[in-house]
Amino acid sequence: MRIRAETTSPIKKRTSVLCAFCFEDANLAIGLDKLNKKIDQTISQSIKEMNGEKGKISIIHSHKEISSDRILIAGLGKKNKLTSDVIRDVTGIITKKIHELKIKEFSIIVPERIPIESDLVISSIVEGANLSLYEFDLFKKEKSANKEPDLMLLTSDKNAQKIIKNYITISDAVRFTRDVANLPPNECPPAKLGEIAKKIANQNKMKCIVFSKNEIKSKGLGGVVAVGQGSKNEPRFIILEYRNGSKEQKPILLVGKAVTFDTGGISLKPGEKMDEMKFDKCGGCTVLGVMKAISELKLSINVVAIIPSVENMPSGDAFRPGDIIKLFNGKTAEILNTDAEGRLILADGLAYGIKHYQPSSVMDFATLTGACIVALGTNVAGIVSNNTKLASKIKTASAKTSEEVWELPINDDYMDMVKSKVADIKNIGIGRAAGTITAAAFLANSVGNVPWVHFDIAGTAWIQPSTKNKSYNSHGATGFGVRLVVNYLMNQR
Ligand code: BES
Ligand code: MG
Ligand code: ZN
Repeated sequence: MRIRAETTSPIKKRTSVLCAFCFEDANLAIGLDKLNKKIDQTISQSIKEMNGEKGKISIIHSHKEISSDRILIAGLGKKNKLTSDVIRDVTGIITKKIHELKIKEFSIIVPERIPIESDLVISSIVEGANLSLYEFDLFKKEKSANKEPDLMLLTSDKNAQKIIKNYITISDAVRFTRDVANLPPNECPPAKLGEIAKKIANQNKMKCIVFSKNEIKSKGLGGVVAVGQGSKNEPRFIILEYRNGSKEQKPILLVGKAVTFDTGGISLKPGEKMDEMKFDKCGGCTVLGVMKAISELKLSINVVAIIPSVENMPSGDAFRPGDIIKLFNGKTAEILNTDAEGRLILADGLAYGIKHYQPSSVMDFATLTGACIVALGTNVAGIVSNNTKLASKIKTASAKTSEEVWELPINDDYMDMVKSKVADIKNIGIGRAAGTITAAAFLANSVGNVPWVHFDIAGTAWIQPSTKNKSYNSHGATGFGVRLVVNYLMNQR
């Protein structure tokens, strides 16, 4: 979507639709008063009727009383409940309306003198507009014929153009993540993810290495080998290196689970909703989106991404409950449920990345446990960390992007829950107790003392029946985490 900034005053702006926000119980639209008597009256009448309720919209034709053809007033709800996410959401509602009306361009008066910093207001408007029109129509003959409208932001903020450019890049990366995550499993085996990673690496001057099945075996990535061995679609171990910081600076490591389809393997999942397990690659897709965004933003940092990718299938060659395998971290793992496969490939990704790149910190992303949905639902991701300082920075970024997270505890008692009688560790905990944390405890065996935050995005990576409706999300993958991590990385030097 094309978005630009302008300092033109609203009265003079020639546009198809001039949009302004207003609060509940207020009698004025923000930045839209004293236009001319007749139109002022019509606006205040219309505001009275819609009363500024969150997400409500009212459109008035200006009949040439002012330069714009129409005025659109959008309610933000109660002033004391305003957050940047309300602006993001309501902007999405406006944009969808404009698109539906087949209007080619519109303008939004950026609200000023409200209790949110100007750059966050602008970035939220950009994200709301650009994400709300996302649709996954790759496999449809009939695509939406309406072109995305152009948007003009009327603002006095001198940095507006720069902010717009950055947040178009970021929200385009979210759209890219959704596009990859939404691919059906027959069209997206691990090899395909490897190709996609190579493509974004070439476009943005990153180094990309993709290990084949044989290389994965010879490097000792035993978790990836075991989970991948049941499928005809061979596993891949994808590494992306982005280096634009100083040479001495240790990289930040990102690891993402990319199970292109999770049947559960020999511990087969029930049939109901099994199709949704095409989204079990979402952690890896989030990491790909982050790498695309930071390389396009040219951030002055060093980041390494690792995406272990497999298809978890039952077959005569599949790994089984009872197997004992050796992970890259040197530990043996007893397999008690082949459906707890994500932790096996992540354990290898984390250990490999830490050994070869000595990162200053590590973050991993995975649709790891159904237990996370039981604990937190589908609007909040679980995080588990060994470092309060890093976790607190993540929470700050999360508040900014409204991709909510909630920290769960980890300690030696949880570590004990994944100890095995016959191997060093086992791949499930004890019954259903603390399923999200025991999965993280399994991973902690690969991490040691490196500052680490684990994201369990099982509930937030795609739209589920209990997902709260947001105009900037649509059916399928959400791209959860991309905006959060990029915002965190933008504040790292
Ligand atoms: N990919 C699933 C987790 C999942 C399930 C995410 C449903 C989103 C929705 C993961 O591989 C898995 O199957 N985990 C098991 C672990 C259990 C066997 C310890 C689970 O959550 O049931
Ligand atoms: Mg599974
Ligand atoms: Zn899985």
